[in-house]
Amino acid sequence: MIDDVRAAADAAVARLAEVAVLAEAQALETELLGKKGPFAEFKTRLGGLATVDEKKAVGQAVNEATQRVAAAVQARVAELKRAERAVQLEAERIDLTEVLSRPSRGHAHIVTQAWQRLEDVFVGLGFQVAEGPEVETDWYNFEALNMPPDHPARSMHDTFYVDHGTPGSTVLRTHTSPVQIRVMQRVAPPIYMIMPGRVFRNETTDATHLAVFHQIEGLVIDRGITLADLAGTIESFTKAFFGEGFSSRLRPSYFPFTEPSAEFDIRTPKGDWLELGGCGMVPPTVLRAGGLDPEEWSGFAFGFGIDRMAKERHAVGDVREMYTNDIRFVEQF
Ligand code: DAH
Repeated sequence: MIDDVRAAADAAVARLAEVAVLAEAQALETELLGKKGPFAEFKTRLGGLATVDEKKAVGQAVNEATQRVAAAVQARVAELKRAERAVQLEAERIDLTEVLSRPSRGHAHIVTQAWQRLEDVFVGLGFQVAEGPEVETDWYNFEALNMPPDHPARSMHDTFYVDHGTPGSTVLRTHTSPVQIRVMQRVAPPIYMIMPGRVFRNETTDATHLAVFHQIEGLVIDRGITLADLAGTIESFTKAFFGEGFSSRLRPSYFPFTEPSAEFDIRTPKGDWLELGGCGMVPPTVLRAGGLDPEEWSGFAFGFGIDRMAKERHAVGDVREMYTNDIRFVEQF
C-alpha cells in the first residue's frame, strides 16, 4: 500500500506540472486533496490494516504524500498566478513613448525672420505693407522710375527677360522700386507704405551676391514732406530695429528715381559704419508716373537688401550659405 500511496503522489505531481491555467490548477487541488481525493481514501483504509506498525508506517506515508502534493499545488498555483498577472500587465500597458518621440519643430528661415521683424518695426512706425508682382513690365521696372531705354543706369541692373509680349517688354523685377509706382496708382495719399519682396539679377553669384534675393522698399507721400522727414524716419527705424546704441547718416549718391539721392549707413555702438541702402526725394517725373500731382504731393523713398541685413546681423560669411538648405546651417538661427 505504501507503494500505491507514493505512486499516487507521483501521478498527482505529474498532473500538476501539465496544468497550464490557474483555474485548472485550483480544480485539481480540490480533486487531489479534497474529501473524495485519493489520499483521503487511503486514510479511510488505514483502519483495515492488520498491525499497529503497519498502520503507523502507512499513515506516515499518506501524510508525507499529502504534504508533498499540497506543496506542489501551492507552488504551481503561485507560478500560474504570476504568469497570468504578467499577461494582464502586458495587455494593460500604456505606451507613453509617443510623447518622447514627438518630432522636433522647425522655425522660420533667417531671411524670413529678418523680413518679419522689418515689417513689425515699420508697422510700429505707422507704415502699411504692400506687395507687387515678381514678373514686371519694362515700364514699371525702369521707365516709370526715370530709366528710359538707353539710360546708363540700366547697366547696373543685369536683367532677366521673360519671353512674353514684345521682346524686352517683360522682365523679372530687378528691384522692389516698381511697387512704388503701383502703390501710387492704387492708393490715394497720404501713403506710408513698405513693400518687401523677391528680386532677380542676371549675375554670377559670389559670397556677397545672389541672383535671387530680397529687398524692402519704403514710400512716403504726403503734403510738405522734406529731406528732414526722410533723415528722421531712417534714424527712427535704425534705433527701433538695431537698438538705441545705433545711429544713421545719409551720404550723397545718385539714383534715377530720386532727387536728391543718398545712401544711408548705420553706425554700430563700436563706431563701425555699415552701408545699408539707398534713398531720396521722389522727383516730379516719378510722382506723375504714379498719377500724382507734384504741385500737391511730395515724398521720399528708400530701399535696401533683406538678405544682406540677415547676413550682417548673424555674421554669415557667405550669402550663398543661406540658401543651401544645409540643416547644420539652418538650425543655428
Ligand atoms: N532700387 C534700388 C536698388 O535696387 C534701391 C533704392 C535706392 C530704392 C533709392 C529706393 C531709393 O527707393 O530711393 O539698388
